[in-house]
This record gives sequence, structure tokens and C-alpha cells, in this order.
Amino acid sequence: MSDTVTIFEVGPRDGLQNESNLVPAAQKIALIDLLSRSGLRQIEATSFVSPKWVPQMADAAEVMAGISRVDDVTYSVLTPNMRGLTAALEARADSAAIFGAASESFSQKNINCSIKESLARFRPVSEAALSAGIGLRGYVSCVVACPYEGTIQPDAVRDVALQMLDMGCHEISLGDTIGKGGSDDIRRLLDVVARDIDGALLAGHYHDTDGNALVNVEASLDYGLRVFDSAIGGLGGCPYAPGAKGNLSTLSLFDMLSDKGWDTGLDRDALIQAEQFIATAIASEKEQ
Ligand code: HMG
Ligand code: MG
Repeated sequence: MSDTVTIFEVGPRDGLQNESNLVPAAQKIALIDLLSRSGLRQIEATSFVSPKWVPQMADAAEVMAGISRVDDVTYSVLTPNMRGLTAALEARADSAAIFGAASESFSQKNINCSIKESLARFRPVSEAALSAGIGLRGYVSCVVACPYEGTIQPDAVRDVALQMLDMGCHEISLGDTIGKGGSDDIRRLLDVVARDIDGALLAGHYHDTDGNALVNVEASLDYGLRVFDSAIGGLGGCPYAPGAKGNLSTLSLFDMLSDKGWDTGLDRDALIQAEQFIATAIASEKEQ
């Protein structure tokens, strides 16, 4: 069994998409550059979504153009449709992510279509990403609960995940979007999902609303998951998931994994520097 865990940093995207005060592109670029020097190999930099839906990400092209890329770091972006994918390719993203949900209501609220329609929309996006030779990640949101319709059944998560894998995704990130799951819920989920999908193809994306994210990571390790999403400073949430708090903090995840003997390859001091930088940047936007 591998003793290595990959921390997939989503702070510049999941974290900053939910800030009520817009963080200037220059600050986002500086944050990504600090994160790039912390040993992280996976950084979700931004998303090419409609600026009408998520104004915080309207500067996606500027951010991608401004970062100083580090070899071996994969800079990925969210791409909800062909328009997003085209922009992602123009911006030289290394990996694209389609993002759907296991909840009908959340799918409607977040991307304005049904689950079935979203999967049909994702197919050409996936084909274009693969033919361009970039990575392709799939997100399934509301893997435990939905802010609009409550409990979600694991079968619904598995079905969407399998269809995304069929489109060529190399990894499926399982999103506890509102952070309401406990480790029993995650085990109940993975009893079904990891029975049909190798844990090595799954990632855990656990928002930390109720403080369960770390125990959810621990539970997931038992099912073979070795990739976990987290956000620097525990930033984050989804504008279309009321009540969703931040992602699991990257530093907390690093500390827990290190304590338990897992190697992540990250430099703790560099993470602290990035965390302090973005906390100051956000605080100064709030003062203005
Ligand atoms: P729509 O309104 O149905 O689509 O939105 P549309 O095609 O009618 O487009 C509306 C307008 O947006 C049009 O502009 C389009 O041109 C423009 P207008 O003609 O009115 O001036 N547009 C775009 N502009 C830039 N880039 C694009 C793009 N597409 C359309 N790619 C759509 C459908 C999917 C576009 C919209 O619902 C959307 O952008 N949703 C994104 C919502 C979002 O980003 N949510 C947060 C990320 S998901 C998340 O946080 C969960 C996750 O972290 C996992 C977890 O925690 O569970 C991943
Ligand atoms: Mg999220």
C-alpha cells in the first residue's frame, strides 16, 4: 500500500469563488505562486464559468496568464461547458474539470440543468479536453446531502461517477458540498461507490462545516482513496450551496496526514506563508 497522499489544493477556486469581497487578480496570482512553491503538485487555479453566475471568477483568463508556472505542478480549472473548455485551452490549463451533482435540485441551482442534461453537456467537453491532451477530472457534488433536498443516496453518486469515468475522467472528486456528512455517512457512501470504482480513481472533497472533514478523510483512507481536496486557510464554499462553509484547511490536512505517517511532500512553512498572505489580502478587501 502506498504511503503517499496527494493534497489537491482548491483554495484559489473553491475558496475565492465564495468570497463576498472580490479578491483582485494580482492577489490571486500571488497566492497561486506561493502555493506553487509549497510542494503542491495539484492546484485548481480558477474556473471558466459564467461571470453572471460567479463574478468572483470573471478574471480567470487574467489569472491563468499571470501565474509563474512551476514544472510538475498541474494547474487545473473548472469547465462547465464548451465555452469554458475553449477558454481553458486558450489559457493553457493543464487539466479541466466537469462538475455535476448527485442531486437534481443542486444541479439545477448550480449549473441550470438536470443531471441528465449536464452529462450530455459534459460529453463533448470531455472529448475536447482529451483530444487536446489535457487532464480531465469529474466532480460529483452533494454526495451525502443536498442543501435543497436533504439526504442523497449513494447509488445516485455512483451512477454519475461511473458516467463521468466513461467519458474519460482520470479521477472523480466526491464533494460533500455542505459539509454535513460524518464518517458513518462517508463509509455508507464508499461502501457503495468504492465497491464499483477503484479507490485510486476517487478523491475526497469534504467541506468542513460541521468539523468532520478530517475524520472523513481518515475513513476514506480505509477505502483506498489517496487524493484529498483542501483549501488554504480553510476558505471556500459554493455560492449555490447555502450553508456550505469552507473546505478542509490544507494546513490541518497536512498536519493530520503527517502525524499519521503519510507523506504529502509539502513544506509546512510555505503553506503557512500562503495562508497568512491570503488572510491579509481578504481582510484588506473587507476594510475597503
Ligand atoms: P445558463 O445561464 O444556463 O447558460 O448557465 P447560458 O448558456 O444561457 O449562459 C448565460 C450567460 O453566461 C451567457 O451570457 C453566456 O454567454 C455566458 P450572455 O449571452 O447572457 O451575455 N456563459 C459563459 N461565460 C463565460 N464562460 C462560460 C460561459 N458559459 C456561459 N463558460 C452555466 C449555465 C453552466 C454557464 C452557469 O450555470 C454557470 O456558469 N454555473 C457555474 C456555477 C459555479 O461555478 N458554481 C461553483 C462551482 S461548483 C462547486 O463549487 C462544487 C465543487 O466545489 C464540489 C463540491 O463542493 O461539491 C466543485
Ligand atoms: Mg467545493
